[in-house]
Amino acid sequence: MQKKLAYADIDLAQWKEHTEVETDSLWIMDGRAKGDGHKLDYHGNFIPQIATQMFTRYTKAGDIVLDMFLGSGTSAIEAVNMNRRLVGVELKSELAEYVRGKIPPDVLDKDIHILQGDSASLKTVAQVKKTLNSMGSEYAQLLVLHPPYADIIKFSDLSEDLSNCGSTKSFLDMFKKVAKNGYDLLEPGRFAVLVIGDKYAGGELVPLGFLCMQAMNDVGFKTKSIIVKNIEGNEKGKGRDNNLWRYRALAGGFYIFKHEYVIVFWKPEK
Ligand SMILES: C[S@@+](CC[C@H](N)C(=O)[O-])C[C@H]1O[C@@H](n2cnc3c(N)ncnc32)[C@H](O)[C@@H]1O
Repeated sequence: MQKKLAYADIDLAQWKEHTEVETDSLWIMDGRAKGDGHKLDYHGNFIPQIATQMFTRYTKAGDIVLDMFLGSGTSAIEAVNMNRRLVGVELKSELAEYVRGKIPPDVLDKDIHILQGDSASLKTVAQVKKTLNSMGSEYAQLLVLHPPYADIIKFSDLSEDLSNCGSTKSFLDMFKKVAKNGYDLLEPGRFAVLVIGDKYAGGELVPLGFLCMQAMNDVGFKTKSIIVKNIEGNEKGKGRDNNLWRYRALAGGFYIFKHEYVIVFWKPEK
């Protein structure tokens, strides 16, 4: 007899068969999954395995994923591959247009919707709601947030861009608005995932991961898990500078970032 989870296609009666599903909090990945529409064509995209794992554990076929920092559309491509639907929001219009070009025409604007907008704004919330309604749903069933890691990589000159925040405080204020909007758009009882790394500035570690986790908690999300993922296969051209970083680390008394966080949250039913 099947024993299906309410929010995923994982059959608990066959739990030993689901060997592809991660349940440990430390992810040492060999590298970036390639093919199936995925390309390393954007500085700062996440590895497709993050989407694969999260969609497998927290969604069923046909569920709607809401990605409020769509970037180059890794989650959109994986949604197509895994028979999930998706609404993605990206601030940069040329990038949103580029991602539209990567989506098979038969699902574009039907199962996969790419919107241009500022995810911190109420205008975008209204746009997402309208899109969800057109897909026959009041809410999204999984929220994905992969914000800029403050100002580490500058994504655009736009003032709404979180990478133009100016200070950690203003980054967190902007992030919290997105988190609140995401909370309101997510179905109660469902999950959210935050992908984020820390930064180092002025001789001090700035724990963006924990600060953003707190912001998520402040708007109502309960933390389920903190996954530490190695950053191998996510970075372009670091090899050349590896020795220099090692020298800097030894001289400066710090350790080189080799990990980022995949933090899983839950929106309570009530
Ligand atoms: C770390 S990247 C996301 C990468 C994505 N997960 C992928 O795999 O390609 C963050 C993205 O957020 C976008 N962004 C920054 N501020 C935004 C905002 N206020 N609303 C929507 N998108 C924003 C940036 O333009 C950038 O493309």
